[in-house]
Amino acid sequence: MKKFLVAAILAGVSLSASAAETIRFATEAGYAPFEFVGADNKIQGFDIDLANAMCKEMQATCTFTNQSFDSLIPSLKFRRIDAVISGMDITAERLKQVSFTNAYYDNSAIFFAQKGKFTDLASLKGKRVGIQNGTTHQKYLMDKHAEITAVPYDSYQNAVLDLKNGRLDAVFGDTAVVQEFLKQNPSLGTVGDKITDQSYFGSGLGIAVRQNNTELLGKMNDALAKVRQDGTYKTLYTKWFQQ
Ligand code: ARG
Repeated sequence: MKKFLVAAILAGVSLSASAAETIRFATEAGYAPFEFVGADNKIQGFDIDLANAMCKEMQATCTFTNQSFDSLIPSLKFRRIDAVISGMDITAERLKQVSFTNAYYDNSAIFFAQKGKFTDLASLKGKRVGIQNGTTHQKYLMDKHAEITAVPYDSYQNAVLDLKNGRLDAVFGDTAVVQEFLKQNPSLGTVGDKITDQSYFGSGLGIAVRQNNTELLGKMNDALAKVRQDGTYKTLYTKWFQQ
């Protein structure tokens, strides 16, 4: 047996297709607390911790790469990656292209601007609002608020920079991410109420896999259920959202 193992290793044969499957995740890591690049240059955040906990459950090796948000679904379809975890809302439109795990987070969206400058969404009429390319925020603005000028960015941080230096009037994003930015920038504040419109943000965040990849989808849903049951999910939720 030992001889066979050595021979197999020398021949470059993968011994462990099932024992140590590799799942290639991609994300856009400019979206704290879901995913961001830490001081050590490593991608971290709630999504990464959750994916790693699920990978441990699946006995899989997981890798994470960072790329633009609007390239994530195309990369999945082209098989460059196996899964997307990126604070991604489960939407009917995306479900035409990919499959999603069960929801792992209840999402909502909110606008923010210089404190006291705008009272409500109506006051943003004709104003420049930053959104990230390929997001539900972009689609929501285009569909529902044609009176607001949507300014697309690849990097959410750059949108916030432009808000701070006056090139934008407001920015629109996921509530938890906005709260994180507000913590770091006390001169900024939210505008209007949280938006939970089901058809855009309401069905929660999910992990996307290719549509025909039912095996991986099943494993992931099992792993997600497991980490919810054993308390890991709760620990991670508290770590990233309740401090
Ligand atoms: N929740 C929004 C969406 O699904 C934005 C997600 C952006 N995520 C990121 N990691 N940049 O479209």
